[in-house]
Amino acid sequence: MKTIVITGASAGIGRALALEFARRGYRLGLLGRRVDALASLQQETLACGATAAITGQLDVDAAESVAPQLQRVFQGLGTVDIFVANAGINAFTNVGKDELVAEARIIQTNVVGAIASIDAAAAHFIEQNRGHIVGVSSLASMIAVPKQAAYCASKAAISMYLRSARVELARHNIRVTDIQPGFVVTDIMPNIGKYPFAIPATKAAFEMAEAIEKGREEAIVPGFPWRLFKPFFRHIPNSFWKRL
Ligand SMILES: NC(=O)c1ccc[n+]([C@@H]2O[C@H](COP(=O)([O-])OP(=O)(O)OC[C@H]3O[C@@H](n4cnc5c(N)ncnc54)[C@H](OP(=O)(O)O)[C@@H]3O)[C@@H](O)[C@H]2O)c1
Repeated sequence: MKTIVITGASAGIGRALALEFARRGYRLGLLGRRVDALASLQQETLACGATAAITGQLDVDAAESVAPQLQRVFQGLGTVDIFVANAGINAFTNVGKDELVAEARIIQTNVVGAIASIDAAAAHFIEQNRGHIVGVSSLASMIAVPKQAAYCASKAAISMYLRSARVELARHNIRVTDIQPGFVVTDIMPNIGKYPFAIPATKAAFEMAEAIEKGREEAIVPGFPWRLFKPFFRHIPNSFWKRL
């Protein structure tokens, strides 16, 4: 049975993804800062079909500890087939309003933290000459959103990192999938359920798992209706955001 390791598994999309893969019988590595939440998720995943589940504390902002922490979990599981760099944060930030600290925090977690995680997973996969890296980016990598400049920039950066990594790692038999969710109802932002085409985390997790198992290079989640709108992503008028 396959093994999947997920960062940011303690809540939201990562938690739903862990439960989805548990139902599919996977062995799981569950990572995040909140160990209590991970411990109860571990029990839930085992109860709903996971063949094994181990947890590990991981703060992706502490970049130097990311590789050793991940290696500990990889060793605990033996071999790992799929690694999901899902941990991430969001916050409204304003351009030109002295908010560099908040902007830098978003870049640190979503870009540096994700790269540190992907690097550690890639090292493990290069050694075993196979593997599958999944990054959780966002539609915000392609759509310019006011008060989200730092978040959009972070997701554009990680999507491009994943694209380049895909080319570089292909010779090691390592697949790379870039998942781009739209709005998913989690605690990442207040009132996210009121945004267009918002879906529950369980639905997002199902579509993500399907894309991952099919080895897709990129997947917009939910596919419908966002894929239809993709040609217009660069032309969304300001009035659209004002209405939101
Ligand atoms: N919800 C959406 O609409 C949406 C849309 C597009 C993309 N995404 C992306 O999906 C991913 C998951 O978001 P979500 O909506 O599920 O958010 P969430 O409910 O707030 O969950 C975020 C997860 O990331 C973990 N995390 C945050 N900072 C971390 C850090 N420094 N080190 C390790 N783990 C950290 C959290 O765990 P701990 O606090 O326990 O560490 C938590 O498990 C993010 O990358 C986000 O950008 C979300």
